[in-house]
Amino acid sequence: MIGKLNHVAIVVPDLAAASEVYRSTLGATVSEPVDLPDHGVTTVFVELPNTKIELLHPLGEDSPVAKFLSNNASGGIHHVCYEVEDIHAAIDRMVDEGARVLGDGKPKTGAHGLPVVFLHPKDFCGTLIELEEVGEPRIAAAG
Ligand code: CO
Repeated sequence: MIGKLNHVAIVVPDLAAASEVYRSTLGATVSEPVDLPDHGVTTVFVELPNTKIELLHPLGEDSPVAKFLSNNASGGIHHVCYEVEDIHAAIDRMVDEGARVLGDGKPKTGAHGLPVVFLHPKDFCGTLIELEEVGEPRIAAAG
């Protein structure tokens, strides 16, 4: 069911310092910081040839990554995001398999404007999983 790895999200205590590590030390293409107030995070996107890294930092009150950062002062991997064609079919399958979908179990609009859900880490090898609906694989139109 799952398709491509869309991104790995890393929570960091200092976005500027983390951006510099990816830009200068690792030689990656790194975006400017983007505030996502609806998600309670500021994000820097690191573009890799086959996937993305998202550097996350808490924004505002009740950020979903604030507790993670307080438990992991130097930062760490927060979640991995896999692409699915149909988020509702994916949710149904998770429920059938006995896996826990977080929140109210309904998709929300994620950081890329696409429907997402999160799955309980205890059901998936200790890793928080995000599923993102990217639709069916697109085939380039002829002409
Ligand atoms: Co994500």
